[in-house]
This record gives sequence, structure tokens and C-alpha cells, in this order.
Amino acid sequence: MGKVFLVASGKGGVGKTTVCSNVAAALSERYRVLVLDADLDLSNLDLAFGLRNRHVYDLQDLFYRNCSFEDAAVPVPGHPNLTAVFAPLRREVPSETLLRFVKQLVECKRKEYDFIFIDCPAGLGQAIEILADPRYRILMVTTPDRTAVSDGERTADVLFSRGCNKIRLVVNRVRPSLIKKNHAPDIDDIIDTTALQLIGLIPEDVGVIRAGNTDTLVCDLPKSRSKKAFANIALRLTGADVALDKFN
Ligand SMILES: Nc1ncnc2c1ncn2[C@@H]1O[C@H](COP(=O)(O)OP(=O)(O)OP(=O)(O)O)[C@@H](O)[C@H]1O
Ligand SMILES: [Mg+2]
Repeated sequence: MGKVFLVASGKGGVGKTTVCSNVAAALSERYRVLVLDADLDLSNLDLAFGLRNRHVYDLQDLFYRNCSFEDAAVPVPGHPNLTAVFAPLRREVPSETLLRFVKQLVECKRKEYDFIFIDCPAGLGQAIEILADPRYRILMVTTPDRTAVSDGERTADVLFSRGCNKIRLVVNRVRPSLIKKNHAPDIDDIIDTTALQLIGLIPEDVGVIRAGNTDTLVCDLPKSRSKKAFANIALRLTGADVALDKFN
């Protein structure tokens, strides 16, 4: 049975789609990985994979049954073991119906993939309501800002109360110079506030911005500050004991 990860956050724009796409790509070097976009109204997983308007079918077509899973499951170029099912750009089916369909799809495909990632919208909306399942793992993404950390903590609390206790914390856009000057919370403070186990730190990186705007993944850039951080999170998800990244 493949492991299922919801990629969630309290606050929006903290890097869920970035983490989801890049960690999935890193894992796909050795495992079969499926990524599903559950951010049904403001989806951009297709942009992260450089595939906006370059695929024909999406989740909604699959739901309507006018295409097969093979039609809707888009191979990510350059990553032979990585497949994505994107959300529609114009949703016609109620989000609740499509989210329940995402859950069915996960259950139906768990045997065929080693890892399934679900890119969620921010906060405690319908997606978390429907997709939260004690059998699934959660990657809770935050930036080192007090508002994002506080919202992440509250989202994690709700998930815990629903029996989802396999939650790991990803702190994205870390800027050590700000932490040194006490202009941003220290990583230990973030861990204490959220009471979550840390699985990775990702530095603020112009490479992420560049990749996101040029149809590229960070792992496909020749060089980038955050490349190793994504790869290390992928390794930790497989159970490998990898020391935490240190960057200045
Ligand atoms: N480590 C990083 N360094 C620099 N920029 C980053 C980093 N991580 C993410 N970003 C930028 O932050 C922006 C938001 O990222 P992303 O879309 O992944 O967030 P999100 O949590 O999925 O947002 P939403 O809540 O809208 O779904 C993007 O422009 C992305 O390039
Ligand atoms: Mg997103």
C-alpha cells in the first residue's frame, strides 16, 4: 500500500505546491509517485510541473467518466515515475463531490503507487474536512512568520482532533540572517509552538522563484540553494536518517 500525504498549511502562499511538486519529483527517482491537485478553485500544480494548458484531461473529466485514468494521469516530462492528475481550471462539479472523488481515487490507486501526494488548499476548509483520514500522513508547511506558524498550529490541532496524528512540519523560506537578528522566530520556537516533529527546513531561494516562473522544477535546475533540502525531505519520508540541513 502506498503512503498518502496531504500537503497542508494554515496560511496560504507558504509553499505547499512548491513542496509537493519538488518532494514528489525527488521521490520519483526511486519510487512510483502520484500527485493529485485538491486545490480545486485556485489550482496551480499544473504550473509547478510546467504543464498548464499542455494536458487535455483533468480530475473533472475523470469524474464525468469521459476519459480513463490513463488519459487524466499526466506524466511529468523528465520524471518517468512521476504522474499528476490536475484540477480543472473551470470547475463545474461541486467541490464537495470532486473532493469525495479525490478520496475514492486515492483509495483505488494506493496499490499502484508507492507515494501519493495531495496538494491541498490552505486552511481548514472542505478539503481538509473531506480528505483528513487517520491513515494518511500530513506535511504541514509553514514559513517562519508568526501568523503562518500560528495558523499552522491551529490547523494541526484540528487534524489531531480528527485522529490524524502523523503530522510532520516543513519550515519553508527560512532566512537565517533574519533569525540571527531576532527578526523571525527561531526554528526551535516554531517547533515548540506547533508541537510538531520537524521533517525539513527549506531556505529562501531565488532558484524556487526562477523554477516556478519558467516551467521547471528545482531539481532540474543546474544549481539551487534548496535542491538538497527537497531531496533530503524525500529521503526522510522513506525512513532514511538524514541530518537536518544547515545553511547560512
Ligand atoms: N523556498 C522558497 N524560496 C523562495 N520562494 C519560494 C519558496 N517557496 C515558495 N516560494 C514562492 O512562494 C510562492 C507561493 O508558493 P506556493 O504556490 O507553493 O504556495 P502555496 O502554499 O501552494 O499557495 P496556495 O495557498 O495559494 O496554494 C510562489 O511564488 C513560490 O515560488
Ligand atoms: Mg498551492
